[in-house]
Amino acid sequence: MGPVTSRNDAAIGEILVPADDLTCRVKELAAAISVDYQDRDLLLIGVLKGAVFFLSDLMRALTVPVEVDFMAISSYGSSTKSSGVVRILKDLDASIEGRDVVIVEDIVDSGLTLQYLLRNLAARQPASLEVCALLIKPGARKVDLEPRYVGFELPDQFVIGYGLDHGERYRNLPYVAGLNQ
Ligand code: IMP
Ligand code: MG
Repeated sequence: MGPVTSRNDAAIGEILVPADDLTCRVKELAAAISVDYQDRDLLLIGVLKGAVFFLSDLMRALTVPVEVDFMAISSYGSSTKSSGVVRILKDLDASIEGRDVVIVEDIVDSGLTLQYLLRNLAARQPASLEVCALLIKPGARKVDLEPRYVGFELPDQFVIGYGLDHGERYRNLPYVAGLNQ
């Protein structure tokens, strides 16, 4: 049996990042983080829901001790445009004071979500604060954001799969594809 979401679904466009490329790149990112965070106190913060898929693969490829916590923030709802309004729907379970924090994001588009998160988390006085984003779109250059770890740069196009949704669907696709709309 194939995946439940059929490749015949007309909304699923061109495959932009195949599953094999995701696997390879996630391992490379994990290797880099494992070197950088030797003898540190690494805490990954996953941004629900999209980053969960990337985070779970990334975390299993790390070779350093690591903990994980999650935040949920509002972004687009079911639209494909950023509202610019960011709201915390679920906060972290524990304090991050003195921790070496890496925010794990699925995608940086306008950068507004990340900019808000960075400010919010920096105020909680972690020992260090970095970003690992699987995907980045060109618009992110408009705000002053330089994620330390980036998986792939994409063209300015709405994408689905590997955690990324459109109206909550398509997160389970094993690849990243364009959305036909
Ligand atoms: P930003 O605030 O514009 O950078 O958007 C960040 C959030 O919007 C991401 O964490 C995603 O949840 C969502 N998002 C942005 N671009 C896409 C996309 O192409 N597909 C699916 N979700 C997206
Ligand atoms: Mg989303």
